[in-house]
Amino acid sequence: MTEIVTSAPTALEIAPFTEAHLPGALALSQAAGWPHRIEDWALGLSVSQGVAAVSNGRVVSTGLCSFHGPVATLNMIIVDETMRGQGLGRQVMERIIALAGDREMRLVATDEGLPLYRKLGFSEAGRIVQLQGLARATPPERPVCVGPADIDMLAAMDLAASGMQRQPLLTRIAEMGETLTTEGGFALLRPFGRGHVLGPVVAQDAATARALIAAAASHLAGHFLRIDMPEDQGLAAFVETLGLSRSGGGTAMVRAPRPRPQSNLQTHALISQALG
Ligand SMILES: CC(C)(COP(=O)(O)OP(=O)(O)OC[C@H]1O[C@@H](n2cnc3c(N)ncnc32)[C@H](O)[C@@H]1OP(=O)(O)O)[C@@H](O)C(=O)NCCC(=O)NCCS
Repeated sequence: MTEIVTSAPTALEIAPFTEAHLPGALALSQAAGWPHRIEDWALGLSVSQGVAAVSNGRVVSTGLCSFHGPVATLNMIIVDETMRGQGLGRQVMERIIALAGDREMRLVATDEGLPLYRKLGFSEAGRIVQLQGLARATPPERPVCVGPADIDMLAAMDLAASGMQRQPLLTRIAEMGETLTTEGGFALLRPFGRGHVLGPVVAQDAATARALIAAAASHLAGHFLRIDMPEDQGLAAFVETLGLSRSGGGTAMVRAPRPRPQSNLQTHALISQALG
C-alpha cells in the first residue's frame, strides 16, 4: 500500500520589517552573496520602513524603502533562492512602492532584478560601477582635510548634488568613520562589508573628486576599500590606479522622477548601492 503524504501548506506572512527581522535578513543577504554586516542592515533600517516575508519562522524575503525627503531609495530586495519565480518579489516590491508614496523612487538593480523593475514602471538611468580592493597610497592632487566638518553644510552640498535630503543619515555615517573635505567637495569613509566604503563623494568637478578619493585611499593604504560610482562620471579608470578593480555593479533605475534644480555639484560615489 502506498502512503500518500501531503504536506500542510506553508504559511507565509508579509509583515512590517522590524529590528527582530535583522538576523534572518542578514542570513538572506549572505546567502545571496552580499557583503552586508548586521550593522550595515541597521544603518539602512534607521532611515527606512520595509517588509519581511516570514515562512515557518524563517525570513524568506525582504525589501526596504529608505526616505530621503522627496526621494525614496528601494533596496535590500531579496527572495530566498528556493522561493524565486513564484511572485514573491513582485509582492514585496508592490508593498515598498506603496511605502514610497508620491516620492521619486530610485534603486540600483542587479541583472536578476531588472525584468521585475521594468515591469513595475522603473526605467534605466545609467550604470553604477563597483570597484574594490586593497587601497594604494597616492598623494592627492590638492590638499584634503581628514576630520570633523559642518554636517549641515555637507548635507546641503549632498542635496544639491543628489536631490536627497539626508542630513540624519550623513550625520550617522560621519560618526562611524572619517569625513574628508576640500575646496568644493567632501567625502565620507566608513566601515562596511569586508572593509571600508567611500561614499558619498560630492564634488564640483572631477579633479576635486579625484583628490578626495586619493586621500581616502592613502588614509586606508593596504586595507580593503570599496567605491560604487556612477559610470558616466568617468572616474573608474582613475580609481583602478589606486589598487581597486571593477567587481560588478548594477543599473540605476528611477520611477516617477522629479525635476531637479541645476547644480555644479555632482555625486561621484554613492553611500551604497542600497542607499543611493
Ligand atoms: C530579483 C528577485 C528579488 C525577484 O524575486 P522573485 O520572487 O523571483 O520575482 P517574481 O517571481 O515576483 O517575478 C517577478 C517578475 O519578473 C519576471 N521575470 C523574472 N525573470 C525574468 C526574465 N528573465 N525575463 C522576463 N521577465 C522575468 C517574472 O515573470 C515576474 O513577472 P510577473 O510578476 O509579471 O509574472 C530575486 O530573483 C532575488 O532575490 N534575486 C537575488 C537578489 C537580487 O538580485 N535582488 C535584486 C536586488 S536589486
